[in-house]
Amino acid sequence: MSKLPYHLSGKLHLTGSSRFIADEAPLPGMLYAKFLFSPHAHALLKDLDTSAAEAYPGVFKVITAKDIPGQNMIGHVIKDEPLFPSEIMYAGQPLAMVLAEDISIAEHAVSLIKAEYEELPPVFEVRTADQNQAWYVPERKIESGDVAKALASAEFTLSGTTSSAGQEHFYMETQRARAIPLEDKQIMVLSATQSTMECQEVISHVLGLPAHNIIIEVPRLGGAFGGKERAATIWAVMAALGTYLTKRPVEVLLSRDEDMKVTGKRHPFRSDWTVGYSSTGEISAYELTLLANGGAYADLSVAILERAMFHAENCLHIPNIRIKGRACITNLPPNTAYRGFGAPQGIFVIESIIEKLASKLGRDPLELRRLNMYQDRDLTPYGQRIEHCPLAAVYDKLEANSDYQKLKIELDKYNQMSTLYKQGLAITPVKFGISFTTALLNQGSALVWIYIDGSVSVTTGGIEMGQELSTKVAIVVSRTLGIPIEQIHVESSNSQRVGNASPTAASTGSDINGNAARIACEEIMSKLRPAAAELMQSKWGVQTSADSMVFEGGKISCPRSSDSLSFTELIRYAYNSRIPLAAYGYYSTPGVHFDREKGIGKPFHYYVYGAALSRVELDLLSGEHRLLSVHIVHENGSSLSAEIDRGQIIGAFIQSLGWCSMEELKHDAHGRYLTVSPSTYKIPGIRDLPEQLQIEILESGAEEASVYGSKATGEPPFIYGMSVFFALQNAIRNVNPEAELSFPATPEAILKALK
Ligand code: MTE
Ligand code: HPA
Ligand code: MOS
Repeated sequence: MSKLPYHLSGKLHLTGSSRFIADEAPLPGMLYAKFLFSPHAHALLKDLDTSAAEAYPGVFKVITAKDIPGQNMIGHVIKDEPLFPSEIMYAGQPLAMVLAEDISIAEHAVSLIKAEYEELPPVFEVRTADQNQAWYVPERKIESGDVAKALASAEFTLSGTTSSAGQEHFYMETQRARAIPLEDKQIMVLSATQSTMECQEVISHVLGLPAHNIIIEVPRLGGAFGGKERAATIWAVMAALGTYLTKRPVEVLLSRDEDMKVTGKRHPFRSDWTVGYSSTGEISAYELTLLANGGAYADLSVAILERAMFHAENCLHIPNIRIKGRACITNLPPNTAYRGFGAPQGIFVIESIIEKLASKLGRDPLELRRLNMYQDRDLTPYGQRIEHCPLAAVYDKLEANSDYQKLKIELDKYNQMSTLYKQGLAITPVKFGISFTTALLNQGSALVWIYIDGSVSVTTGGIEMGQELSTKVAIVVSRTLGIPIEQIHVESSNSQRVGNASPTAASTGSDINGNAARIACEEIMSKLRPAAAELMQSKWGVQTSADSMVFEGGKISCPRSSDSLSFTELIRYAYNSRIPLAAYGYYSTPGVHFDREKGIGKPFHYYVYGAALSRVELDLLSGEHRLLSVHIVHENGSSLSAEIDRGQIIGAFIQSLGWCSMEELKHDAHGRYLTVSPSTYKIPGIRDLPEQLQIEILESGAEEASVYGSKATGEPPFIYGMSVFFALQNAIRNVNPEAELSFPATPEAILKALK
């Protein structure tokens, strides 16, 4: 039997023994929280009478804005979001928290709260918000070349508007937190967050306590996908505030429908564009304005818009380009990070345009992509130089793997014969920038302890959320210390063991935390090497240097001797010799910077490239489709774990095809989401896997790659799912070449496009 790949959580998940926050036993005296959520999207809260709720048996306390000891503010980057508002900004905004002995009591008591509102007109459409100049910050711009001149002299120009929609995160584990009072003023908060630092910081401001009084502990998350980078903070604050005011443990746990009603989603975008191009298909100019529907508060909208702008040209080198972006305030729950962080929304526009130009010019879209693609030494619109660009090789591989030229002929034949079914084909490439675009976040720490028996404990600031960061960190430690992975335990994330941790986001988890762990281990190794040489000499009289020691598989050997030490034996010797067996490692990504005023810099440490091809078969009568085959070529540096990366690629692909072809958010005229469960909001299931799926991971030796030559994998493959949208559009255009498919490509949208 072949050995199973390392996946530290796999066995625990399969046997039901991995622990999540809600698995913790109830604590004595624990109170359960339920919330009064605003029924209005925009209103003034004129009066709040909680007396009946407070008097209800089993209710311990009802908490509102007036109870907050510190600042009524949970905005982080932009300080615009109160914990409890006086001006309500979205339907579902919490207005009061009831703490009771059990959940049903708390729920009933919420219904006893009397609130008076003065309704104000809400805005939901991004275009309206933009016309009202309702922006969090002024317009952003990235520009290179001379767009006006290039458009004026272009052989052809084409303009249009492209929209993409929001998306519910649908993590398995809903938002939750548990706060526990400790000695003196300390409070421990178990939080389902991607960011221990943000939770700690915001709680400390709301409670008016120094950060060292707030301990954030994150065992693991049951999925996050960006939906807990910022959106988890408010619930951690609620729990901590409850505990601060009552001195009791407090649990906050949203039900699925509460979670879907009140939390922000992926940003819907609306984008106006003009391209200039030649009859041979060269694109000379691109002018683009991206509008992001940010919802009620800034949250991460500005950074998300910025990443959309950084990805607006995707894999194309367009010499004259002007990208403008405005993040708009609407009365929806604050939209937030979601896998890709704006990049999918930016890339969707240019990929739509390429498909359109190809059909106008009667050319294969892949030819146009190749004709305009980035080459080494090209500059991006924001001045970052392209190096080691593998796009040509990616396209070659994809063509070969899918037998592309033959496939096209096959499809043409099929479509000529078939009247009720049509097939379609599309390729979508990606160039995804890795690093937080907020440069200061590109830092991380790790704490490594080697215990006396040779077993190792590792804590990083990274959060385990199903992406199996813990396995990747363990692999790094195993390689650096030369010990079997079974000897390593990767701990929960905890602000006392590793403080000031950046969110686990931007796909940088393994780069930042893996490197920090590597650096900590190297520090310990610098002491263990001479100790090993010393021990060899004292045991066997071998004269050897510290540098020649080989640490591998839990053994230490040197070329001059056939004897070897065991790691455990060395650790015992090191301890007895009073050599430190712990280290703190710190890593910051070198060389990343960006000047927002000038729109110039090197925001990314490197790029991840790849491309996907999807083939679909469309039922013209029902608008439904089958995904016949998918081929993916993904360039990944030298992978730490090909199996984990494969899982990430498939997961991202499926999540993205959900966004493009299934999932549809609906809200009513009051801005209340109507899609609040899987019965009204369709996410992909196991049957939505393609009938044939081939993934090739291209190893590249790109020197800019990160820990042990690996590259990040979490978000870039999300782009591949778009190929399903474009394949469906391609199938439709077989029937009607002018057809416009709206987003997402649900059967309804497809039938509409076919008309
Ligand atoms: N995979 C699983 N299983 N669960 C998740 O929540 N989040 C994605 C991606 N893959 C996610 C996931 C997102 S949005 C990001 S940014 C990265 O994982 C974060 O982890 P990493 O930086 O360690 O790749
Ligand atoms: N990605 C994810 N989260 C972030 C980023 C980013 O680029 N910048 C700030 N927070
Ligand atoms: Mo991922 S959207 O950066 O958490």
